Amino acid sequence: MMPSRSLQRELLAWLVVPLTAVVSFNVWTTYWNAAETADLITDRTLLASARVIAENIRENDGVLEAPIPPAALEMFASDPPDRVVYRVATPRGRIIAGYPDVIAPPGEPVGLEPVYFQTRFREQPMRAVAIAQPIVSAQNPGSAIVAVGQTLRAHDQLMTSLWLKALRDQVLLVAAAGLLGVFGLRRGLAPILRLRNDVVERDPAELKPFAANAVQSELRPLVEALNEAFERIQRQMAAQRRFVANAAHQLRTPLALLKTQVGVGLREKGVAAKEEALAAADRSVDGMARLSNQLLSLARAEQGSSSLMKSEVDFGAVARDALEGLTQAALSRHIDLGFEAEEEGLVVWGHPTLLRELVINLVDNALRYTPEGGSVTARIGRDGERVVLRVEDTGPGIAEADREKVFERFYRGADAGSEGTGLGLAIVREIVSSHDGEIVLSGRQPPPGLNACVSLPAYRQD
Ligand SMILES: Nc1ncnc2c1ncn2[C@@H]1O[C@H](COP(=O)(O)OP(=O)(O)OP(=O)(O)O)[C@@H](O)[C@H]1O
Ligand SMILES: [Mg+2]
Repeated sequence: MMPSRSLQRELLAWLVVPLTAVVSFNVWTTYWNAAETADLITDRTLLASARVIAENIRENDGVLEAPIPPAALEMFASDPPDRVVYRVATPRGRIIAGYPDVIAPPGEPVGLEPVYFQTRFREQPMRAVAIAQPIVSAQNPGSAIVAVGQTLRAHDQLMTSLWLKALRDQVLLVAAAGLLGVFGLRRGLAPILRLRNDVVERDPAELKPFAANAVQSELRPLVEALNEAFERIQRQMAAQRRFVANAAHQLRTPLALLKTQVGVGLREKGVAAKEEALAAADRSVDGMARLSNQLLSLARAEQGSSSLMKSEVDFGAVARDALEGLTQAALSRHIDLGFEAEEEGLVVWGHPTLLRELVINLVDNALRYTPEGGSVTARIGRDGERVVLRVEDTGPGIAEADREKVFERFYRGADAGSEGTGLGLAIVREIVSSHDGEIVLSGRQPPPGLNACVSLPAYRQD
C-alpha cells in the first residue's frame, strides 16, 4: 500500500527541513564567532594584565625585581573564578616572579608584539600571553619576558552563553516559521477542504457545477476537470434513464398489441379469421424478437472495447455472409443489391457476431428506406491501415441536420415507416466505437442517396 501523502506535511517539510539545514549551518558559524569573541576578550585582559606587570619591573641595586600590583590580577575577577598564573623572567632567564615551571611561551616574543598561546596548568587548559619588556640597565641589558595565563572557565562560559543566545534565537525563528507555515497552509488549504466537503456531501442528482473561483487559480483546472467529469456522468446517467424508459415503452407496446391479437384470435369463430389473427400475432412476435435482439446487441457492444471476446475476423467474409442473408429482402423489394470486396487484407481484430450485426443494420436501413426499383451497394476494401466498408443506396438520404441525431437511441426519421425502433444506427455506432473505428454518413455521389462509411483498423500481425 502506498503511504498516505499529506500536502500539509509535505509542504511543511519542504519549508522546515531546508530552513533547519540553513539554521544548523548558521548555529555552527555562530559557535565559531562566539569562540572568537571569547578569545578576543580573554586576550585583551591577558595583555592588559601583562602590561601592568611589565611596567612594574624595576632595578634595585642592580637586581631586577617584579612586584605584582593587585590591579594586574583584579581584572580577572570572574565567576566562576579562574586560576591566573604569571611568570616574569629576566633577560638572562632567571625567574623573578610567579611559577617557574609553567607557562613557558613556545617562543620568545620578538619586539613588542605579544605572543598568545595555549598551554596547561595542573591539567587545566589555559590561554596565555607573553610580552617582552625592554630593560634600560647596564647590569641587565635586554628584555624581561612577562607571561600571564588564565584557565578557561570564564572564557568557556562566555562562549557558551553567547552561543546559546544565538541558538535560542535561531530555534525560535524556525519554530515561528513552522507555525506561520502551518497557519498559512491551513488558510491556503481551506478552499480545497471546502471543495472536498462539497464533493462528499453532494446529492448525486445535483447538477450545479462546483464554483471554480472559490479556489486558488492553480487549482482551478482541477475543479474544471471535476465539473466536466460530473457533467459527463450526468449526461450518461440521463441517457441511461431515457434508454430504460424508452426500452420499457418499446417492449410494452408490441406486447399490448400481441395481447389484443391473441384475444381477437380466441374470440373469432371462423377459421380464416383465426388464421389472420395468428398471422398478425406471428408478425408481432417477429418484431419483438428483433427488438430483443437489438437490445441484446446494444448491451453487448456497450461493454466497450476491452471486455469483448475478440479475434482475427475476415471482415470481407462476414459482410458477404450478412448480405447473403438479406438477398431475399432485396428481391422482395425489387432492389438491386450489389456487393464488391477486395480479395485480401480485410482482416480486423473484432467480434464476428457484432461485426455481422453492424453490416446487417446498415444494409437493412439502405434496403428499407430506398424506394422499390432502387439499388444498394456494399463495398469493402483496404485503405492504408484501415479496412473500409461503404454502403450506398439510392434512397432519400439523411438531411445533414439529422446525421448526428439518427445515431441516438430510438430516434427515427419522420418518414421512417411503422416498422423499426430507431436502434439500428445506435447499435452500429456502439459496435464501431468498440472496435476503435469510425462511421461517417454522407450524401451519395451522385445524389440522391446515402453513403454510410465505416472504417476499422486493419489487423496487423505483431
Ligand atoms: N439508408 C437510409 N436512408 C435514409 N434514411 C435513413 C437511412 N438509414 C437510416 N435512416 C434514418 O435514420 C433513422 C434511424 O435509423 P435506425 O436504423 O437507427 O433506426 P430505424 O431503422 O428507424 O429502426 P431499427 O431500430 O429497426 O433499425 C431512421 O428512422 C431513418 O429515418
Ligand atoms: Mg434501421
